Amino acid sequence: MPELPYKNILHTKQFSREDLETIFETARDMEKIISWEKPGKLLEGKIMASLFYEPSTRTRLSFESAMKRLGWEVITVSDGETSSLSKGESLEDNALINSMYSDILVIRHPEAGSAEKTAEAVDVPVINAGDGTNQHPTQALLDVYTIFKEKKTLDNLHIAIVGDLKYGRTTHSLVFLMGLFENVSFSFISPDELPMPEKVIDFVKEKNIPYTETSIYKEGITDADILYVTRMQKERFTDMSEYERLKDDFILTLDILKTAKKDVSIMHPLPRVNEVDHEVDALPNAAFFRQAWNGVPIRMALLYLLLKD
Ligand code: CP
Repeated sequence: MPELPYKNILHTKQFSREDLETIFETARDMEKIISWEKPGKLLEGKIMASLFYEPSTRTRLSFESAMKRLGWEVITVSDGETSSLSKGESLEDNALINSMYSDILVIRHPEAGSAEKTAEAVDVPVINAGDGTNQHPTQALLDVYTIFKEKKTLDNLHIAIVGDLKYGRTTHSLVFLMGLFENVSFSFISPDELPMPEKVIDFVKEKNIPYTETSIYKEGITDADILYVTRMQKERFTDMSEYERLKDDFILTLDILKTAKKDVSIMHPLPRVNEVDHEVDALPNAAFFRQAWNGVPIRMALLYLLLKD
Protein backbone atom coordinates (compact mmCIF):
# COMPACT_ATOMS: atom_id res chain seq x y z
CA MET A 1 0.00 0.00 0.00
CA PRO A 2 1.54 3.39 -1.00
CA GLU A 3 2.48 5.79 1.82
CA LEU A 4 3.35 9.48 2.14
CA PRO A 5 6.15 10.12 4.65
CA TYR A 6 4.55 13.14 6.35
CA LYS A 7 1.45 14.33 8.11
CA ASN A 8 0.78 17.74 6.52
CA ILE A 9 0.78 19.24 3.03
CA LEU A 10 2.07 22.77 3.45
CA HIS A 11 4.30 23.60 0.44
CA THR A 12 5.60 21.94 -2.73
CA LYS A 13 9.23 21.85 -1.66
CA GLN A 14 8.36 18.95 0.66
CA PHE A 15 7.75 16.51 -2.21
CA SER A 16 10.12 14.03 -3.89
CA ARG A 17 9.56 12.36 -7.27
CA GLU A 18 8.65 9.18 -5.40
CA ASP A 19 5.96 11.07 -3.46
CA LEU A 20 4.47 12.29 -6.73
CA GLU A 21 4.42 8.75 -8.10
CA THR A 22 2.54 7.64 -4.96
CA ILE A 23 0.04 10.50 -5.21
CA PHE A 24 -0.54 10.07 -8.96
CA GLU A 25 -0.91 6.28 -8.71
CA THR A 26 -3.50 6.78 -5.94
CA ALA A 27 -5.25 9.51 -7.98
CA ARG A 28 -5.58 7.07 -10.90
CA ASP A 29 -7.32 4.63 -8.53
CA MET A 30 -9.55 7.46 -7.33
CA GLU A 31 -10.60 8.17 -10.92
CA LYS A 32 -12.03 4.63 -10.94
CA ILE A 33 -14.10 5.38 -7.83
CA ILE A 34 -15.42 8.55 -9.52
CA SER A 35 -16.39 6.61 -12.65
CA TRP A 36 -18.36 4.04 -10.61
CA GLU A 37 -20.78 6.90 -9.94
CA LYS A 38 -21.28 5.89 -6.33
CA PRO A 39 -19.53 7.08 -3.19
CA GLY A 40 -16.50 5.11 -2.04
CA LYS A 41 -16.45 3.86 1.55
CA LEU A 42 -12.69 3.95 1.96
CA LEU A 43 -12.65 6.14 5.04
CA GLU A 44 -16.23 6.18 6.24
CA GLY A 45 -16.75 8.19 9.40
CA LYS A 46 -13.91 10.69 8.92
CA ILE A 47 -14.67 14.43 8.98
CA MET A 48 -12.84 17.17 7.07
CA ALA A 49 -13.02 20.78 8.26
CA SER A 50 -12.99 22.96 5.16
CA LEU A 51 -11.78 26.37 6.38
CA PHE A 52 -11.85 29.00 3.65
CA TYR A 53 -11.15 32.52 4.87
CA GLU A 54 -10.74 33.71 1.26
CA PRO A 55 -13.07 33.09 -1.71
CA SER A 56 -12.78 29.81 -3.61
CA THR A 57 -14.79 27.72 -6.03
CA ARG A 58 -12.51 24.98 -7.35
CA THR A 59 -10.38 24.26 -4.31
CA ARG A 60 -13.13 24.21 -1.71
CA LEU A 61 -15.71 22.41 -3.78
CA SER A 62 -13.29 19.85 -5.23
CA PHE A 63 -12.01 19.07 -1.70
CA GLU A 64 -15.59 18.70 -0.50
CA SER A 65 -16.51 16.62 -3.55
CA ALA A 66 -13.43 14.47 -2.92
CA MET A 67 -14.55 13.85 0.68
CA LYS A 68 -18.06 12.91 -0.39
CA ARG A 69 -16.76 10.60 -3.14
CA LEU A 70 -14.84 8.81 -0.38
CA GLY A 71 -17.96 8.55 1.76
CA TRP A 72 -16.77 11.05 4.38
CA GLU A 73 -18.30 14.08 6.03
CA VAL A 74 -17.47 17.77 5.70
CA ILE A 75 -17.90 20.75 7.99
CA THR A 76 -17.33 24.10 6.34
CA VAL A 77 -16.39 27.71 6.86
CA SER A 78 -16.84 29.26 3.42
CA ASP A 79 -16.46 32.90 4.42
CA GLY A 80 -14.19 34.47 7.04
CA GLU A 81 -17.01 36.76 8.19
CA THR A 82 -18.96 33.76 9.53
CA SER A 83 -16.02 32.52 11.63
CA SER A 84 -15.03 33.72 15.09
CA LEU A 85 -11.74 34.90 13.53
CA SER A 86 -13.80 37.97 12.62
CA LYS A 87 -14.35 38.56 16.39
CA GLY A 88 -10.60 38.66 16.93
CA GLU A 89 -9.91 35.00 17.82
CA SER A 90 -6.36 33.94 16.96
CA LEU A 91 -5.71 31.60 14.06
CA GLU A 92 -4.14 29.11 16.50
CA ASP A 93 -7.10 29.04 18.94
CA ASN A 94 -9.53 28.80 16.07
CA ALA A 95 -7.57 25.93 14.49
CA LEU A 96 -7.36 24.05 17.79
CA ILE A 97 -11.14 24.16 18.19
CA ASN A 98 -11.72 23.10 14.57
CA SER A 99 -9.33 20.18 15.10
CA MET A 100 -11.52 18.96 18.00
CA TYR A 101 -14.46 18.67 15.61
CA SER A 102 -12.70 16.96 12.69
CA ASP A 103 -9.94 14.59 11.54
CA ILE A 104 -8.18 16.91 9.06
CA LEU A 105 -8.08 20.67 8.40
CA VAL A 106 -7.98 22.17 4.90
CA ILE A 107 -7.26 25.89 5.19
CA ARG A 108 -7.15 28.86 2.84
CA HIS A 109 -6.15 32.12 4.47
CA PRO A 110 -4.81 35.48 3.19
CA GLU A 111 -1.66 35.40 5.35
CA ALA A 112 1.53 33.78 3.99
CA GLY A 113 2.63 31.10 6.46
CA SER A 114 -0.87 30.64 7.93
CA ALA A 115 -1.03 26.92 7.08
CA GLU A 116 2.29 26.29 8.84
CA LYS A 117 1.09 28.27 11.86
CA THR A 118 -2.09 26.17 11.89
CA ALA A 119 -0.15 22.90 11.66
CA GLU A 120 1.93 23.91 14.69
CA ALA A 121 -1.23 24.52 16.74
CA VAL A 122 -3.02 21.19 16.13
CA ASP A 123 -2.47 17.42 16.21
CA VAL A 124 -4.57 16.53 13.14
CA PRO A 125 -3.17 16.77 9.58
CA VAL A 126 -3.33 20.16 7.84
CA ILE A 127 -3.52 20.85 4.10
CA ASN A 128 -2.62 24.28 2.75
CA ALA A 129 -5.32 25.33 0.27
CA GLY A 130 -3.57 28.65 -0.46
CA ASP A 131 -1.76 30.95 1.98
CA GLY A 132 -1.79 34.52 0.70
CA THR A 133 0.78 35.13 -2.05
CA ASN A 134 2.95 32.26 -0.86
CA GLN A 135 1.92 28.77 -2.05
CA HIS A 136 -0.95 26.57 -3.25
CA PRO A 137 0.55 23.07 -3.15
CA THR A 138 -2.52 20.98 -4.00
CA GLN A 139 -3.06 23.16 -7.08
CA ALA A 140 0.52 22.44 -8.17
CA LEU A 141 -0.03 18.71 -7.66
CA LEU A 142 -3.10 18.73 -9.88
CA ASP A 143 -1.22 20.92 -12.38
CA VAL A 144 1.64 18.44 -12.62
CA TYR A 145 -0.82 15.52 -12.81
CA THR A 146 -2.48 17.36 -15.72
CA ILE A 147 0.86 17.98 -17.43
CA PHE A 148 1.61 14.26 -17.22
CA LYS A 149 -1.81 13.33 -18.61
CA GLU A 150 -1.50 15.82 -21.46
CA LYS A 151 2.17 15.21 -22.39
CA LYS A 152 2.80 11.64 -21.12
CA THR A 153 6.07 12.82 -19.57
CA LEU A 154 7.33 15.28 -16.94
CA ASP A 155 10.90 15.47 -18.25
CA ASN A 156 12.30 17.54 -21.14
CA LEU A 157 9.55 20.16 -21.00
CA HIS A 158 9.72 23.91 -21.53
CA ILE A 159 7.09 25.69 -19.46
CA ALA A 160 6.04 29.27 -20.15
CA ILE A 161 4.29 30.91 -17.20
CA VAL A 162 2.39 34.11 -17.93
CA GLY A 163 0.66 36.83 -15.97
CA ASP A 164 0.88 38.08 -12.41
CA LEU A 165 3.92 36.11 -11.26
CA LYS A 166 4.51 38.30 -8.21
CA TYR A 167 1.24 37.49 -6.47
CA GLY A 168 0.23 34.29 -8.31
CA ARG A 169 0.97 31.64 -5.66
CA THR A 170 0.12 28.74 -7.99
CA THR A 171 3.06 29.72 -10.22
CA HIS A 172 5.51 29.62 -7.29
CA SER A 173 4.33 26.17 -6.22
CA LEU A 174 4.46 24.88 -9.81
CA VAL A 175 8.09 25.94 -10.36
CA PHE A 176 9.22 24.25 -7.12
CA LEU A 177 7.46 21.04 -8.11
CA MET A 178 8.57 20.91 -11.76
CA GLY A 179 12.13 21.49 -10.51
CA LEU A 180 12.10 17.80 -9.55
CA PHE A 181 12.20 16.69 -13.18
CA GLU A 182 14.98 16.30 -15.76
CA ASN A 183 15.82 18.90 -18.36
CA VAL A 184 12.95 21.25 -17.48
CA SER A 185 13.23 24.95 -18.42
CA PHE A 186 11.03 28.01 -17.92
CA SER A 187 10.02 31.30 -19.52
CA PHE A 188 8.58 33.75 -17.01
CA ILE A 189 6.39 36.28 -18.85
CA SER A 190 4.94 39.17 -16.85
CA PRO A 191 4.63 42.92 -16.68
CA ASP A 192 7.83 44.50 -15.32
CA GLU A 193 5.87 45.44 -12.18
CA LEU A 194 4.89 41.80 -11.38
CA PRO A 195 7.98 39.61 -11.83
CA MET A 196 8.56 36.15 -10.38
CA PRO A 197 9.65 36.67 -6.72
CA GLU A 198 13.28 36.37 -5.70
CA LYS A 199 12.66 33.14 -3.72
CA VAL A 200 11.60 31.39 -6.96
CA ILE A 201 14.41 32.90 -9.06
CA ASP A 202 16.91 31.85 -6.36
CA PHE A 203 15.51 28.30 -6.52
CA VAL A 204 15.92 27.93 -10.31
CA LYS A 205 19.41 29.45 -10.12
CA GLU A 206 20.47 27.08 -7.31
CA LYS A 207 19.21 24.09 -9.30
CA ASN A 208 20.80 25.35 -12.56
CA ILE A 209 17.41 25.25 -14.27
CA PRO A 210 17.48 27.34 -17.48
CA TYR A 211 14.99 30.25 -17.43
CA THR A 212 14.27 33.55 -19.13
CA GLU A 213 12.25 36.56 -17.99
CA THR A 214 10.43 38.77 -20.48
CA SER A 215 7.46 41.12 -20.76
CA ILE A 216 6.90 40.23 -24.44
CA TYR A 217 4.23 37.52 -24.68
CA LYS A 218 5.05 36.23 -28.19
CA GLU A 219 8.76 36.09 -27.39
CA GLY A 220 8.25 33.96 -24.27
CA ILE A 221 6.00 31.25 -25.72
CA THR A 222 7.80 30.18 -28.90
CA ASP A 223 9.45 27.05 -27.43
CA ALA A 224 6.79 26.22 -24.84
CA ASP A 225 5.40 22.70 -24.42
CA ILE A 226 3.18 24.03 -21.63
CA LEU A 227 1.68 27.53 -21.53
CA TYR A 228 0.47 28.23 -17.98
CA VAL A 229 -1.63 31.39 -17.91
CA THR A 230 -2.65 33.21 -14.74
CA ARG A 231 -4.91 36.17 -13.98
CA MET A 232 -3.89 39.48 -12.45
CA GLN A 233 -4.53 38.86 -8.73
CA LYS A 234 -6.78 41.88 -8.18
CA GLU A 235 -7.27 41.11 -4.49
CA ARG A 236 -3.53 41.48 -3.77
CA PHE A 237 -3.02 44.93 -5.32
CA THR A 238 -2.74 47.83 -2.91
CA ASP A 239 -2.98 50.34 -5.76
CA MET A 240 -6.13 49.67 -7.85
CA SER A 241 -5.00 52.12 -10.54
CA GLU A 242 -2.00 49.83 -11.14
CA TYR A 243 -4.36 46.84 -11.51
CA GLU A 244 -6.54 48.79 -13.97
CA ARG A 245 -3.44 49.76 -15.98
CA LEU A 246 -2.12 46.17 -16.21
CA LYS A 247 -5.24 44.00 -16.37
CA ASP A 248 -5.64 44.00 -20.18
CA ASP A 249 -1.96 43.68 -21.13
CA PHE A 250 -1.55 39.88 -21.22
CA ILE A 251 -4.53 38.37 -23.04
CA LEU A 252 -4.09 35.05 -24.82
CA THR A 253 -5.71 35.06 -28.27
CA LEU A 254 -5.51 32.80 -31.33
CA ASP A 255 -3.25 35.44 -32.86
CA ILE A 256 -0.76 35.26 -29.96
CA LEU A 257 -0.82 31.45 -30.24
CA LYS A 258 0.42 31.61 -33.87
CA THR A 259 3.93 32.02 -32.44
CA ALA A 260 3.64 28.92 -30.21
CA LYS A 261 4.00 25.23 -31.02
CA LYS A 262 0.76 23.78 -32.42
CA ASP A 263 0.53 21.19 -29.66
CA VAL A 264 1.36 23.50 -26.72
CA SER A 265 -0.86 22.52 -23.78
CA ILE A 266 -2.70 25.59 -22.53
CA MET A 267 -3.31 25.54 -18.79
CA HIS A 268 -4.75 27.96 -16.24
CA PRO A 269 -5.48 27.35 -12.52
CA LEU A 270 -8.70 29.39 -12.98
CA PRO A 271 -10.71 31.46 -12.26
CA ARG A 272 -10.28 33.22 -15.61
CA VAL A 273 -11.16 36.89 -15.86
CA ASN A 274 -10.18 38.13 -19.33
CA GLU A 275 -6.66 36.71 -19.82
CA VAL A 276 -7.69 33.79 -22.06
CA ASP A 277 -9.96 34.79 -24.92
CA HIS A 278 -12.98 32.44 -25.17
CA GLU A 279 -12.02 31.65 -28.79
CA VAL A 280 -9.12 29.61 -27.33
CA ASP A 281 -11.47 27.26 -25.41
CA ALA A 282 -12.35 25.12 -28.45
CA LEU A 283 -8.73 24.16 -29.20
CA PRO A 284 -8.03 20.48 -28.44
CA ASN A 285 -4.90 21.55 -26.54
CA ALA A 286 -6.85 23.95 -24.27
CA ALA A 287 -6.47 21.83 -21.12
CA PHE A 288 -7.72 24.19 -18.40
CA PHE A 289 -11.12 22.61 -17.82
CA ARG A 290 -9.62 19.09 -17.79
CA GLN A 291 -7.08 20.53 -15.32
CA ALA A 292 -9.85 21.75 -12.98
CA TRP A 293 -11.52 18.31 -13.10
CA ASN A 294 -8.25 16.67 -12.07
CA GLY A 295 -8.57 18.49 -8.74
CA VAL A 296 -11.03 15.88 -7.48
CA PRO A 297 -8.95 12.67 -7.93
CA ILE A 298 -5.80 14.43 -6.72
CA ARG A 299 -7.52 15.71 -3.57
CA MET A 300 -9.18 12.32 -2.99
CA ALA A 301 -5.71 10.77 -3.20
CA LEU A 302 -4.23 13.25 -0.73
CA LEU A 303 -7.05 12.89 1.79
CA TYR A 304 -6.88 9.12 1.54
CA LEU A 305 -3.10 8.95 1.91
CA LEU A 306 -3.11 11.28 4.91
CA LEU A 307 -6.05 9.69 6.73
CA LYS A 308 -5.97 5.96 6.05
CA ASP A 309 -4.95 3.92 9.08
N1 CP B 1 -7.46 27.45 -8.73
C1 CP B 1 -8.06 27.88 -7.58
O1 CP B 1 -7.43 27.92 -6.51
O2 CP B 1 -9.35 28.24 -7.74
P1 CP B 1 -10.32 28.74 -6.58
O3 CP B 1 -9.79 30.07 -6.08
O4 CP B 1 -11.67 28.84 -7.23
O5 CP B 1 -10.26 27.73 -5.47
